[in-house]
Amino acid sequence: MAFNLKGRSYLKISDFSQREMLYLLDLARDLKRAKYAHSEQPALTGKDICLIFEKTSTRTRCAFEVAAHDQGAHITYLDPSGSQIGHKESMKDTARVLGRMFDAIEFRGAGQEMVEELSDYAGVPVYNGLTDDWHPTQMLADILTMVEHTDKPRSEIAYAFLGDARNNMGNSLLMLGAIMGCDVRMVAPKKNQNHKEVVEMAKARAAETGARITITDDIGKGVKGVDFVHTDVWVSMGEPAKVWESRIKLLKPYQVNKALLKKTGNPNVKFMHCLPAFHNTDTKVGKEIFEKFGLSEMEVTDEVFESPANIAFEQAENRMHTIKAILVATLAG
Ligand code: CP
Ligand code: NVA
Repeated sequence: MAFNLKGRSYLKISDFSQREMLYLLDLARDLKRAKYAHSEQPALTGKDICLIFEKTSTRTRCAFEVAAHDQGAHITYLDPSGSQIGHKESMKDTARVLGRMFDAIEFRGAGQEMVEELSDYAGVPVYNGLTDDWHPTQMLADILTMVEHTDKPRSEIAYAFLGDARNNMGNSLLMLGAIMGCDVRMVAPKKNQNHKEVVEMAKARAAETGARITITDDIGKGVKGVDFVHTDVWVSMGEPAKVWESRIKLLKPYQVNKALLKKTGNPNVKFMHCLPAFHNTDTKVGKEIFEKFGLSEMEVTDEVFESPANIAFEQAENRMHTIKAILVATLAG
């Protein structure tokens, strides 16, 4: 084994070096092939993993559960109402309890400081399944999906993120590109650009890896020549509904539609989204937004979402293979 990641936590995207990320990517590809070939060997038999979700989830929860089951581990799922965390018991005390029962803990919630505190006191690996600031497990899936959908070497991959860049996905995609040496463009109105500290962190990493970083509100400049266009919801979990109006005004010009994809100049450009996506009125929120603001599609149009350019479902599948790689690398043996 090139690296020993046993016992390591994954709290934010910068926790792993480029070489460690490449190792995890290789492992994810091996595990994906093994699953497809029905030749997977369980390496986590007898391990117990706790999944704490203080915010809702489809992909992250299912990816952890399926990955754990495939590898022979057991999981315990704690939903927002099913534990004492926060209302009756502090994170510090919770961590000291769960660390005595489980081999690893996944946490999804608002505060980055919560997952950090959990990791400080649990004494077992802790994985960030999304906080307001970072979405690190998503990033391994995103880079795997990009590598799978281009013939270019990793360092030549160019991608743009459009939308609310100061959030977990925007921050993580900026750092991902910086760590992996890509050409990364964060395209957002000034108000929604990544905070200064995140940009500085990314620039420092880019200086080591050769990554090219562009932060701009100029859509044409931002998307020119990219291989992949990413976006995310305009209002994230935990934000108040009242921000929709101003967010729509700010971000509507950054909607991923056919004209925007055309601006890349790349007929083979691919569309990516961590999901869930608001691309029609088939959801409760989608309907509410339509009734209030007359907008039937938001960060991405239905036309783009339903087109062959959309690789978000491959990206979603890769959540499972990459989370499995993290579990095997940090827990097996
Ligand atoms: N992409 C993602 O994290 O999806 P869920 O919110 O469904 O877990
Ligand atoms: N930015 C989104 C990501 C969902 C996976 C949110 O936090 O709701």
